[in-house]
Amino acid sequence: MSPIVRSATEPVEPTLGVGRISKSESEQADFVVVANRLPVQHSVSQGNDEWRPSPGGLVSALTAVLQNHDGLWIGWLGGSEHGEPPMDYEGIRLRAVAISPEEYADFYLGFSNATLWPLYHDAIRAPTFHRHWWHTYQDINMRYASAAAESVAEGGTVWIHDYQLQLVPNMLRTLRPDVRIGFFLHIPFPPSELFMQLPWRKEILTGLLGADLIGFQVPHMASNFSRIARRLLGATGTDSVLTYAGRTIRIGAFPITVDTAQITSLAADPKIRERAREIRRDLGNPEVVLLGVDRLDYTKGIQQRIRAINELYADGTLSGGTHVMVQVAVPSRESDAHYDLERHNLEQVVSEMNGDHGLVGSPVIHYLHQNLPFEELLALYLAADVMLVTPFRDGMNLVAKEYVACRTELTGKLVLSEFAGAASELRGAFMVNPHDLDGIKEAVCLALKAGPKEAKARMSRMRRKTMRRDVFDWAQSFLAALQQGNASRPSAGAESPDPST
Ligand code: F6P
Repeated sequence: MSPIVRSATEPVEPTLGVGRISKSESEQADFVVVANRLPVQHSVSQGNDEWRPSPGGLVSALTAVLQNHDGLWIGWLGGSEHGEPPMDYEGIRLRAVAISPEEYADFYLGFSNATLWPLYHDAIRAPTFHRHWWHTYQDINMRYASAAAESVAEGGTVWIHDYQLQLVPNMLRTLRPDVRIGFFLHIPFPPSELFMQLPWRKEILTGLLGADLIGFQVPHMASNFSRIARRLLGATGTDSVLTYAGRTIRIGAFPITVDTAQITSLAADPKIRERAREIRRDLGNPEVVLLGVDRLDYTKGIQQRIRAINELYADGTLSGGTHVMVQVAVPSRESDAHYDLERHNLEQVVSEMNGDHGLVGSPVIHYLHQNLPFEELLALYLAADVMLVTPFRDGMNLVAKEYVACRTELTGKLVLSEFAGAASELRGAFMVNPHDLDGIKEAVCLALKAGPKEAKARMSRMRRKTMRRDVFDWAQSFLAALQQGNASRPSAGAESPDPST
């Protein structure tokens, strides 16, 4: 990819539905990222309004690529009522897509998070299908596609992200046949038995097939997609290359990962290490700290995990004062009834556990419904002896990789769901079927019993895999495949899952 972009000198004007449109060719970028959200979020610090980078490795990785290519990021402000974001964030031009409150209800809460999200996560909650949600999904996807079509330079590259924008690749191809289009799905792509439920299944497939390269987290998600595209649309080819409507589309697995260098360096920071010791002191210096860190989402299996731990207290395997659990549940999608109910039920389970097994001044579970700074999360990872990551289904799960990346001393044990994409790589974890309560208890017991030698061997194995490539390599490998046309082989990061490990 050539580092070309024209300078943004002319003023930009908002037009219907899209803020800050760059109309002139001189403002077009050779590299454009299209994602549901912009990489900045509003915050108030010491009474001052600020725009800060959104947390997460994806923003760091794409920021670096965009900076190197003087690129542009198109996305939504996330319902912020704090006015326009900066036009530029660390050298990256930003272009906001406006979404009205009604559209937010139908596009974001509705089709994206009450139809696609549960359907793509094993239908853990029944997906809801409404035609008016679908119509808004089409409209909003067209809005993003139009913004991308206006923003990308002749022959440029557009990288579209995630399930909220699956129609954008084909819409953009129709508007701008000259550009190279990549699409990456961050969440699982479901097996055909589930995908077939979607009344608009052909439209979604056609939307995705507008891309030149479609990336998934792990190989079986890529083959789920290729098979259903052959079956439903008559595309021809293999799991890694399809021909459809006279075009060649490449499909590949590109397991996302974390910023390993940043995590390793923060994990060595004396302030963060001291904070980890302080956390253990504040918890009453227990022998064992168990930790869960999740977005508060019904796919994450948080309640099931806490029930399992509760039973271990009940049968005397764990005891208050000696074993303490910390569960961080990051607030998410709070205006959705499923998420509200999940929070309510989770808090019920937490309070039962403390009610049954806690002591005055010594609860057995510390529950934080908060969005903690990354440094505080790292201190928690460093303080934890056993990390519990037990989603019912997860595209990847970066918390598991963050935990492994910061355990530079090869201590700490990971209990990991077979159904997280990360299970393909983190084979040194204690694997569990998150639906199996006894199985979770067994895995936790095995983790507790494992001595330093076994723990070290397992952590070394996971770290060898995790430290081999970082989120910058991930972005580069996708973009190199997009430019060079070599997406057909699965990424080096992926292994077949081995639940028996
Ligand atoms: O994992 C998919 C994802 O959309 C992430 O990109 C995002 O961080 C998370 O889910 C939460 O999504 P949101 O708050 O945008 O609904």
